[in-house]
Amino acid sequence: MPKIIFIQHDGAERTVETANGSAMQAAVSHGVRGIDGDCGGAAACATCHVYVHTDWLARTGPRGEMEAAMLEFAEEVLPNSRLACQIQLTDGLDGLVLMLPAAQH
Ligand code: FES
Repeated sequence: MPKIIFIQHDGAERTVETANGSAMQAAVSHGVRGIDGDCGGAAACATCHVYVHTDWLARTGPRGEMEAAMLEFAEEVLPNSRLACQIQLTDGLDGLVLMLPAAQH
């Protein structure tokens, strides 16, 4: 089961372990602060906006087309911005580090 490390803008860390699904589902099911997942994972709300740690960018892959379009409406978008609902967890992502934007807390 992959472990995912969420880091809040204030530096607080939360590690969650999850069987499968998306990084958004892992966060919501463990009550990670700042990730709401309002649209249920349809890439239509951006309440799951995260920054992928640069060490993990190659393994999480690029944004999808719908995801990129939704991120145009998000705040504080950076080159490593992703929607956590579009990151499908696998054993290969064990140890993935995701940071949260300051606006999400
Ligand atoms: Fe809505 Fe990810 S949960 S965009």
